[in-house]
Amino acid sequence: MANKDQTDTDRMEKIVSLCKRKGFIFQSAEIYGGLNGCWDYGSLGAEVKRNLKDLWWRKNVQERDDILGLDGSILTHQAVLTASGHVGGFSDPMCDCLLTKARLRADQIEPQSGIAYHFTGASHEESGWSVDRDYSVLLNQPNQDENKARKTAREFYAQFLTDKQIPAKKLTLLGESTSEEKEVTHYNPENGSLLTEPRDFELMFKTQMGASADDHDPNATAYLRPETAQSIFVQYKNVMDSNRVKLPFGIAQIGKAFRNEINPRNFTFRSREFEQMEIEYFCRPEDGLRLTDEWLAKRLSFYDEIGLQKEKLHVLDIPDGERAHYSQKTYDIEYDFPFGQQELEGVAYRGDYDLGKHKEHSGKPLEYFDEQTKERFIPHVVEPSAGCDRTILALICEAFYEEDLTKEGGKQDIRTVMRFKPAIAPIKAAILPLLKNKPELVEKAREVKNLLQPFMNVFYDETAAIGRRYRRQDEVGTPFCIAIDFETMGLEEGKEDLKDTVTIRHRDSMKQERVAISDLLPWLLERIH
Ligand code: GAP
Repeated sequence: MANKDQTDTDRMEKIVSLCKRKGFIFQSAEIYGGLNGCWDYGSLGAEVKRNLKDLWWRKNVQERDDILGLDGSILTHQAVLTASGHVGGFSDPMCDCLLTKARLRADQIEPQSGIAYHFTGASHEESGWSVDRDYSVLLNQPNQDENKARKTAREFYAQFLTDKQIPAKKLTLLGESTSEEKEVTHYNPENGSLLTEPRDFELMFKTQMGASADDHDPNATAYLRPETAQSIFVQYKNVMDSNRVKLPFGIAQIGKAFRNEINPRNFTFRSREFEQMEIEYFCRPEDGLRLTDEWLAKRLSFYDEIGLQKEKLHVLDIPDGERAHYSQKTYDIEYDFPFGQQELEGVAYRGDYDLGKHKEHSGKPLEYFDEQTKERFIPHVVEPSAGCDRTILALICEAFYEEDLTKEGGKQDIRTVMRFKPAIAPIKAAILPLLKNKPELVEKAREVKNLLQPFMNVFYDETAAIGRRYRRQDEVGTPFCIAIDFETMGLEEGKEDLKDTVTIRHRDSMKQERVAISDLLPWLLERIH
């Protein structure tokens, strides 16, 4: 397993900067200071996203006879999420630093040991001010100066001063005592300050429906869905009956999900609004474990196909006790991002938990009737659940290369190149007339553009020297540049046979070859899918 702590901050900063500069991803509402945890895909990012979703949909829905698509509503009936266990259960335990008010996930605090300094309050003799309140600071390093604990405690008590002119260092601490602490998690690892008791923090976005909605009317309450899965479970019977399908079969959905993440971080990796690509694959109970392994293999081969290196993907077989109570098997597929090894997708065997809960809460019969065996039972479910935005981030991180092309004794020359697979690349081909002041070259280039444009996303560029234009395309990952030159026009002496051919320059190798314009479309179509 790769080291989770192995990070490359410098590389990540370059990737984030390129994403903004080239129009892949922008911070949402940036001109107003940004909406934390929300992102907008620019023109190139929107193409990459569309390419990924189209590929996933083609492989998992259109090329299979046993999987059907669904596009469910985002606003979700609260009864659905009550049955699924999200209402009242989808929360993180949070605690606050008493000094800085920073909010921390209680279950993610590393246990610490050391000497805790306890105080019962503080006073200021000259003004007669005092406060009675217990507070503690942990010094977790050997031989740490105990005055550091006192300084932190004074800063804490100074928050309660009514006269803000009194400096913290003038306060007298009261009731000091110490204790030895082992493996405790109620101190802030950043500054040693005591934390509040953990409280559950609701992760779902709640809203009120209807014009006359009353804040306290439970029927007017709806949620922005926290996962796409639930509409699949709730519609499973309708999909099954309307399509007359037999087990095993799946329902697939791509769509937005929303979670009020406490600490959105690592660019788009942990967002508050994100897209999921989920399949619920319904099967007979005896097939569940086998299908979970089969789905894991399929999902790994998908990542290989879109260009994520095998060595950067890691499968974690989640052990007993760490899986959801209803899951007999869960695999996490993780990827080596520049900020560490992190989850891309979960493949979980969920048994009959979800359909069972919806049957119980709705009172509706959700059993499957097997006409051959005459059995009636609740199907089991295998769920491959991938994050669309996380996969895009992985693809962007994977594609980013900086190549040193500096010639001996020459000026430093770093080529930034996004090595997207052609199927993922936002622009498939750039059409570049050699010179913009030669009308015949420009006219021919526009003809080539018109020939290709109905079939793929192309980009026409006639500005700057051709070398610079190639580099610009490298930076956004265009796999093929098509140059229209004097040979194309049959104007080069001795090279008349090259008339109506173009130069194709390959992004990764930078090699060039000539292709006849009449062959160009099939040549490209063969290479971009
Ligand atoms: N229906 C199962 C489910 O939702 P999950 O592990 O909570 O399981 C599935 O989410 C996938 O959705 C994750 O593997 C991840 O790729 C993506 N995901 C979850 N939370 C996310 C977030 N806050 N930001 C971006 N992607 C997220």
